[in-house]
Amino acid sequence: MAIHIKDAHEIELMRESCRLLSVVHYELGQIIRPGISTADIDEYGEKLIRDMGCIPNFLNYNGYPASICVSVNDEVVHGIPKKTRILQEGDIVSLDAGLIYKGYHSDAARTYGVGEISPEARQLIEVTKASFFAGIKKAKAGMRLFDISAAIDDYVTPYGYGIVEDLCGHGIGTHLHEDPMIPNYRVRRRGPRLKPGMTLAIEPMINMGTWAVKWLDDDWTVVTGDGEYSAHYENTILITGSEPEILTLHEEERKELQEEIYV
Ligand code: MF3
Ligand code: CO
Repeated sequence: MAIHIKDAHEIELMRESCRLLSVVHYELGQIIRPGISTADIDEYGEKLIRDMGCIPNFLNYNGYPASICVSVNDEVVHGIPKKTRILQEGDIVSLDAGLIYKGYHSDAARTYGVGEISPEARQLIEVTKASFFAGIKKAKAGMRLFDISAAIDDYVTPYGYGIVEDLCGHGIGTHLHEDPMIPNYRVRRRGPRLKPGMTLAIEPMINMGTWAVKWLDDDWTVVTGDGEYSAHYENTILITGSEPEILTLHEEERKELQEEIYV
């Protein structure tokens, strides 16, 4: 399978799909607090997506039973929302969401602290986010795909964190998962050349301890092998002739980023 290059019209649809998703994430971020259930987050997220006239792309994907993946603490990704799972002060919660707008998919994830969290948990969240930005410094036409992977690895490894290897980033467009697969760790080759018009979901999943993960009996929820916290940060990006465009960043996030420096 080849990496699909989007034309100008498709890029416009991707931009709008991603912009709408950024609003969904922003609104979901506002409701995170102790006392709400992971099912409350899913319900609200699905409503936001449907009210925009869009379709939640995760719902029923390979049988996944919800619209928003909500993963708490040692849950890495694909947590299944439940009425009985109540967020507590000190938890960290990863929200992974996506939607379809006029046939075009978007995909993004954020990890939030619930109330006050430990400095260690805060650092894990910040490093995971920063590793995305370190990675996309290489996301330029002329560079190669796995240069992004190596840059994420180089950023994260000095912290002693574990990089999840069982799940990767991916191409995205008229399907949620398109070629190529994008590891978040260094591999022994540089991979395909990046070209303008590629749309990619870059999504480091970083564990406080071991990189090893296991699956719960629900066959969806991925948890860390050692029970330590895990964080996730994902955006859909567009490769251009110069700097990549981060399509799923909310306006407010863009403002905040201008005040932060990612090295
Ligand atoms: N966002 C996930 C990814 O990046 C997809 C979740 S699919 C679901 O690949 F079925 F778990 F929802
Ligand atoms: Co993804």
